[in-house]
Amino acid sequence: MKKKMILNTSEVVTCSGSRPKFGKDMENIGIIKNGAVVIEDDKIVSVGKEEDILKKYNKDNYTVIDAQAKSVIPGFIDSHTHFVFGGYREEEFSWRLRGDDYMDIMRRGGGIISTVKSTKEASLEELIQSGKKRLDSMLDFGVTTVEGKSGYGLDLETEIKQLKAMQEIKKEHEIDIAVTFLGPHAVPEEYKGKEDEFIDFQIEKVLPEVVNNKLAEFADIFCEEGVFNIEQSRRFLKKAKEMGLKLKLHADEIVQLGGAELAAELGAVSADHLLQVSDKGIKDMAKKGVISTLLPGTAFCLKEEYANGRKMIDEGCAVALATDLNPGSCFTNSVPLIISLAALYMNLSPEEIITALTINSAAAVDRVEEIGSIDPGKKAYILILDYPSYKFLPYHVGVNIVKTVIKNGKIV
Ligand code: NIG
Ligand code: FE
Repeated sequence: MKKKMILNTSEVVTCSGSRPKFGKDMENIGIIKNGAVVIEDDKIVSVGKEEDILKKYNKDNYTVIDAQAKSVIPGFIDSHTHFVFGGYREEEFSWRLRGDDYMDIMRRGGGIISTVKSTKEASLEELIQSGKKRLDSMLDFGVTTVEGKSGYGLDLETEIKQLKAMQEIKKEHEIDIAVTFLGPHAVPEEYKGKEDEFIDFQIEKVLPEVVNNKLAEFADIFCEEGVFNIEQSRRFLKKAKEMGLKLKLHADEIVQLGGAELAAELGAVSADHLLQVSDKGIKDMAKKGVISTLLPGTAFCLKEEYANGRKMIDEGCAVALATDLNPGSCFTNSVPLIISLAALYMNLSPEEIITALTINSAAAVDRVEEIGSIDPGKKAYILILDYPSYKFLPYHVGVNIVKTVIKNGKIV
């Protein structure tokens, strides 16, 4: 049996819990000064004050990981990404710098549609290799679980190829992956003005393949003006739920359509983006326990107003934070950037930010009973920082301060 102990910490931030934290509870991150963690195989066995742990467990039977008087926190979960794709859109980034609008570019056949072309051209092997490289970089930032979406296929074959790429990467990579089927991510040229027919195609042809081959755990849709409306989103998501998938939504990003309300109505696990969410949407998410996933990197890159995370927390929502890594609206997997934006521009406290990237993002991928906190029985996905306090995470602006990543009880 592989037995390990993390000793000599300045603090262990446990984020303790087996359910998401709502509202004020997001401040409770469970700090144990001079804490220690006992790990056996891939699981956390015990956590407490070092002096108490050493009375209960014989140090000689364990390999000691010396935290060198630094802070220890749970592994991060990046609960919203599009990390598998072909090609890049560096030209589009320059156009946007000159004032071009993100949605206008898509309407002209660029944007998401341009990544769809490159993803069709990429082989399965190419998607696997580039996807793995992106995950390697995420692991450096302390991400131990990631959510990844399809949606750059829009046809059956490419959509399946993208999902298969994620399933293959999942078998090999250190990072755990939650796979999401985002079939209705944009309207392909041949379906312009026939969005209902495209939803029919997704429901009748693509969804059954995805479900029968167990290629995804969640379904998602880009519910947005000029993409898929509320009625189309409801129809697709209801069917996906009936067929056994859990639900997520790209909701109220650019126009206030009522995506958050729909997420609550359908019992979605999360509603994501939410820059334009209504007051009722906020109330509905809080009431129905839908995780509000905020993506400040996207607002930053699109130069939009940030989602009102402060208000969502004050109104009792469980907020999660994620990168939204994708080749268009937000080409970054930088967790340090997300942390600093959330602190400086969304007015979230360091404690709320940690909660949003651990226990609440674990809930956003429906794994809150297995990961997201340092609690006995949970998987030993743990980070050692380069500083004695978690407060350095937002304070050391944009810099990666994760020194060691422990995954399944091993240093990776
Ligand atoms: O989450 N909003 C829609 N989908 C992605 C962007 C995808 C892209 O631009 O390629 C998002 O921001
Ligand atoms: Fe997204």
